[in-house]
Amino acid sequence: MKKKWLSLTGGLLAVGMLGLLAAGCGSSPAADSKEIKIGGNFELTGGVANFGKQTVNGIQLAFKEVNAAGGVLGKQITLVQADNKSEPSEATNAITKLINQDKVVAVLGPVASSNVLATLQVGQDNKVPVLTATGTNTKITVDEGKTRPYAFRACFIDPFQGNVMANFAIKSMKAKTAVIYVDNSSDYSKGLAESFEAAFTQAGGTIVGKEAFLQKDQDFKATITKIKGMNPDVVFIPAYYEEVGKIVKQARELGVTVPLLGTDGWDDPKVVEVASAAALNNTYFSNHYSSQDSDPRVAKFAEAYKKEYGQEPSALAALGYDAALMLIDAIKRANSTEPAKIRDALEQTKNLQVVTGIISLNEKHDPVKSAVVIEYKDGKQAFKEKVNP
Ligand code: PHE
Repeated sequence: MKKKWLSLTGGLLAVGMLGLLAAGCGSSPAADSKEIKIGGNFELTGGVANFGKQTVNGIQLAFKEVNAAGGVLGKQITLVQADNKSEPSEATNAITKLINQDKVVAVLGPVASSNVLATLQVGQDNKVPVLTATGTNTKITVDEGKTRPYAFRACFIDPFQGNVMANFAIKSMKAKTAVIYVDNSSDYSKGLAESFEAAFTQAGGTIVGKEAFLQKDQDFKATITKIKGMNPDVVFIPAYYEEVGKIVKQARELGVTVPLLGTDGWDDPKVVEVASAAALNNTYFSNHYSSQDSDPRVAKFAEAYKKEYGQEPSALAALGYDAALMLIDAIKRANSTEPAKIRDALEQTKNLQVVTGIISLNEKHDPVKSAVVIEYKDGKQAFKEKVNP
């Protein structure tokens, strides 16, 4: 009896040792492995789940194309996904798991700036680069004047976007006064409110009121009534689609007929579904890309995307695709899957032609790219103008 017990423990110990050995092998980003594992920290559920899913679609398309053409450094590249549930604390958990458990060599995502910000310390502590396709808040790449060594992005930043919409308000809408309606639960929205105010004021306009709401709010009527009383020429609403749909609907119901201006967070069919096509007329928002752009790269991407997913690619899908290409380019130039070497190569990204423009990173790890202004016309997105930096 006793002997049997002993041999059983011996067996268990041996199994345990094997397990440790196996784990040990996995912990160096396996130089001999046949695959390159990239983490995908995305909003797959929760408030901005549509954004997360679209971005992942774009990444997966790029990975599929590159793998079909022989992969990267002779290996297949794969995306290991973790759902951050559209919450900053979950985004921290997701990156921790991706790095410690899945041993990814770089992390793509999240989408929303607040969620990206919640992952940067973990990337930095583990020396694993974090590349957001979409996060536009300035603090993502620069912390108190210093460039964060392990943080990168594939998109323009909010001061540019705020500037584009402030100038659009003044030049194209002939606005002299504006009200800003900000989402106080989002770093993205707060940063844009500041940028818009600075640019609008500098161009001679007057901000006649600032009001706030929070994510998940449902009833905006009391505040909208107050805004209506301020009688502004335009209302600037830097926010995400769930709240934007409701705000636009309620504003029109309450008789606010002036142009409503937004930013990239407006780019989702849910806005049309919730607000209605009619309510959305006379609204305009800045974005990274328009599928109606005449650039041949855009056409080629849009065609491949439609074939793969049966729908038009949003700006998020395009940025996801571009961020994936940016990372692949860096891994190839690094000629290594070591996270620190990928970091060094990312920093040197230059003249990389992608769907949303040309990526050359400045010393802040920010690309300098153009923006488009899009109009919602009878429920459809119509390209209005392109603005170069
Ligand atoms: N720029 C947004 C943010 O930083 C994310 C976003 C990008 C949303 C592109 C829609 C389209 O939070």
